[in-house]
Amino acid sequence: MIAGTMRLKGKKALVTGAARGIGHAIAGAFVSEGAEVAICDIDGLAAALAADEIRRECRGNAYGFQMDVGDRGSVFACVEECVARLGKIDILVNNAGISRVVPFLEMPESLWDDTLRVNLKGVYLCCQAVLPSMVAAGGGTIINISSQSGKRGNSQYAAYCASKFGVIGLTQSLAQEFAESGITVNAICPGVVFTELWRSPDMLDAYARKRGLAPEEVAAYFESKIPLRRLCTVEDVARVAVFLASDDSAYMTGQSLNVSGGLEMS
Ligand SMILES: NC(=O)c1ccc[n+]([C@@H]2O[C@H](COP(=O)([O-])OP(=O)(O)OC[C@H]3O[C@@H](n4cnc5c(N)ncnc54)[C@H](O)[C@@H]3O)[C@@H](O)[C@H]2O)c1
Repeated sequence: MIAGTMRLKGKKALVTGAARGIGHAIAGAFVSEGAEVAICDIDGLAAALAADEIRRECRGNAYGFQMDVGDRGSVFACVEECVARLGKIDILVNNAGISRVVPFLEMPESLWDDTLRVNLKGVYLCCQAVLPSMVAAGGGTIINISSQSGKRGNSQYAAYCASKFGVIGLTQSLAQEFAESGITVNAICPGVVFTELWRSPDMLDAYARKRGLAPEEVAAYFESKIPLRRLCTVEDVARVAVFLASDDSAYMTGQSLNVSGGLEMS
């Protein structure tokens, strides 16, 4: 948990995929900084439990909502509910995402479609649902969670890389289009964070196979490649999200910031 200095006091934020992992840490950090946060997740019960925990531990307001970011009806209905509860949305964090390591020639079309639906179409839908109220308010901030895989292609990550490169393109397009409305749009590209996404057998075992490692050797393998010699934590990402959500980054838009211990430098 990150100790706050109330840099987001009075702000209202919506974070997708916030029931656990990176989104959960971002939501908690925002509350610690004085924001009120809508925790939106496809798992509505987990979102409600996460909101309870954050209210208790970060001493502020957080509310859980069920939302499937890849479904237009679900996104628009949920955003309407969030605005009814919070009054407005100043900050949107598009964090929900899924990932699999699969050799390209074995990748079923359903995996390609699911990955693009959640990771890329989800960002499009949430931005389309939230931007009109930001334009009407004369400002706002959007933070999209891309990846190092949005900067560099990676074997057996074709769908994931395609979706995360897409998020960076979408970030730059929206930054251009909405700058005159006082809205900034930036992306964060985290390095390797051992959340449940990474620890699932679909990811860890498949990645270990790809590198000829045992699953328990994967973390050390990454640490040896990362210039700062440690994995990324959810707090590392949340701190940068707070910066991008705060007035400290007011003159930044269209940027994609690596938070990866030096794994990627451009
Ligand atoms: N973990 C990493 O190493 C890493 C690295 C770079 C980027 N990222 C990105 O960070 C983001 C968060 O990843 P994480 O590691 O915390 O993952 P995670 O699997 O721990 O959490 C993802 C959350 O998103 C939710 N979610 C999934 N599909 C959804 C949908 N359709 N609608 C709404 N919510 C949905 C899940 O229920 C879960 O709560 C993702 O976009 C991921 O691609 C992660």
